[in-house]
Amino acid sequence: MLAPVERSAGPCGSTLQYDFMTELVSPARAIHGVVSVPGDKSISHRYAMLTSIAQGDSKIYNYATGADCHSTLGCMAALGVRHTFSEEDGRQVLTVHGKGTSGLTAAQETLDAGNSGSTIRMLSGILAAQPFDTSITGDESLVRRPMRRIMAPLAEMGARIDAASGQFPPLTIHGSRLHAIDYALPVASAQVKSCVLLGGLYTDGETIVREPVATRDHTEIALSELGADITTEPRVVRIRGGAQLSGKTLVVPGDLSSAAFFIVAALITAESDLIITNVGLNPTRTALLDVLNGMGASIKLLHIEQVNGELIGNLQIKTSRIRGGTVEGAITAALIDEIPILSVLGAVSEEGLIVRNAGELRVKETDRIDAIAQNLRRMGITLTTTESGLEIPGKQKFHAAEIDSMGDHRIAMAFSIAALAADGACVIQDSSAASVSFPEFYTTLRSITQ
Ligand code: S3P
Repeated sequence: MLAPVERSAGPCGSTLQYDFMTELVSPARAIHGVVSVPGDKSISHRYAMLTSIAQGDSKIYNYATGADCHSTLGCMAALGVRHTFSEEDGRQVLTVHGKGTSGLTAAQETLDAGNSGSTIRMLSGILAAQPFDTSITGDESLVRRPMRRIMAPLAEMGARIDAASGQFPPLTIHGSRLHAIDYALPVASAQVKSCVLLGGLYTDGETIVREPVATRDHTEIALSELGADITTEPRVVRIRGGAQLSGKTLVVPGDLSSAAFFIVAALITAESDLIITNVGLNPTRTALLDVLNGMGASIKLLHIEQVNGELIGNLQIKTSRIRGGTVEGAITAALIDEIPILSVLGAVSEEGLIVRNAGELRVKETDRIDAIAQNLRRMGITLTTTESGLEIPGKQKFHAAEIDSMGDHRIAMAFSIAALAADGACVIQDSSAASVSFPEFYTTLRSITQ
């Protein structure tokens, strides 16, 4: 059961709004009910950027509620694109008044991407092609995240970008005339792929992006939905510049990466039966479900349909005995955001979990290998880490502990789920980090916990 939220005071009684919160999570007997999760974060970012540079108005249903996607909207507003939220039959709808590919105007101030790597990396592709200069930065986590991965291909396209120490935000992007390139991504990254494709939209040639392994393809799908000249074949995307995008009505599927926390909660608690509705099931995002099913999870697909080129469905999850196993290679890249919650599951699985080829975890919102290891150890779990992975023996028990989210949304949520299976209540320090992707996380969890 989850105890009521404890809210700690601001620093030294300051009157500034300070959103550091602590959550107390108690052990749960079962997870039951029917829930939905917020709109997909990845898709929401893309819809906000692309409808801003499309011609005319777009209506977006189920836009992600988290802070990250609001950072993207804030950046687009600073670039002269108006948006409004309204209510329609009890559903919130975002209307973006798109200005066309050449309609953005110079921002008066430095853009703030907040905690969002997707915002700064993808938007840079658009900014590099504008007839004005833009500076963009973010919070203390974002200014430590590597940007060379987008600076290199954009420089090849003719962009000029200045960065702190040559690689970190703040970035100052000098608008330039971009030209098409044929680019092989050195790291598997949908953000970098998207950045190059968005830059490619502004060239007068054909830009080709080649991936080492397949990554999420929401940018390709959204560009195609809005009228770009884009073609895909396995691990190769081609975009021809110059097309005008047209605004339209779009529906964002629920975020499978957010649903992942409740899926694991239902799997590891004793008598659970949970239905999650309207979840995005794009095949480039469902590696987690494949891995869990392979480990013995009872996850049923109840319904599936296609909306705006994206698959959406309902899932039913029941308590299951989980074998555990190894996650490596292309699979690791395909479920990189789910590794914190998969690690929690691994510790209570039969055979444990080995994660390999996950060096990218070291440059996420926190060093997630370190954040997972530190918090598992706080809960009494034995494990070993490598530079690019984790080895977590199975059949272990979580002990009540104080968890430190380290300001990372996925760490806060993953360890709140571990707390449901612990031998006593756990304090989640800085639980409010969850609001980066899932502000309703604790309310929803409370509603399904018994
Ligand atoms: C994302 C891609 C992934 C993922 C991130 C969202 C996206 O990052 O971890 O949360 O929306 O394209 P990388 O591109 O760095 O792998």
